Amino acid sequence: MIAICCDHAGLELKNEIKKHLEEKNYEVKDFGTYDANSCDYPDFAYATAKSVAAGECEKGILVCGTGVGMSMCANKVHGIRCALCGDCFSAQATRQHNNANMLALGARVTGAGLALKIVDTFLDTEFEGGRHQRRIDKMMDIENKENQ
Ligand code: RB5
Repeated sequence: MIAICCDHAGLELKNEIKKHLEEKNYEVKDFGTYDANSCDYPDFAYATAKSVAAGECEKGILVCGTGVGMSMCANKVHGIRCALCGDCFSAQATRQHNNANMLALGARVTGAGLALKIVDTFLDTEFEGGRHQRRIDKMMDIENKENQ
């Protein structure tokens, strides 16, 4: 199951991504927003990130105007490693090296064609483990220390 959400700025792109994933037979859980009325991205990012952190959804995709606010919110949730990507190289590397479990996209920055390729790259790329696991363990140690 892939979790997805957006704010008003990301609505169109989120709907395109959702359609694209459903056509590829992914199950998608849509956490809103569902219309173009102005709303607050933290509300949606938090609910979506919690579903990934709890293991209800395997990965999550967040769409706002820049992707910045959504990614900041998601990274506040314990266990979330959210990467804001505007290119396929970063989407591939963040899966291979950072084992990112959430992807943030900026609808006002990245065109739909590229965004769909970034999504595919993110979902199709496996974590490489090895030395990267050691670094992620250190990252999660920081999270644990800071949350005390
Ligand atoms: C909404 O205007 C905008 O601030 C939001 O979509 C996002 O870009 C925040 O980081």
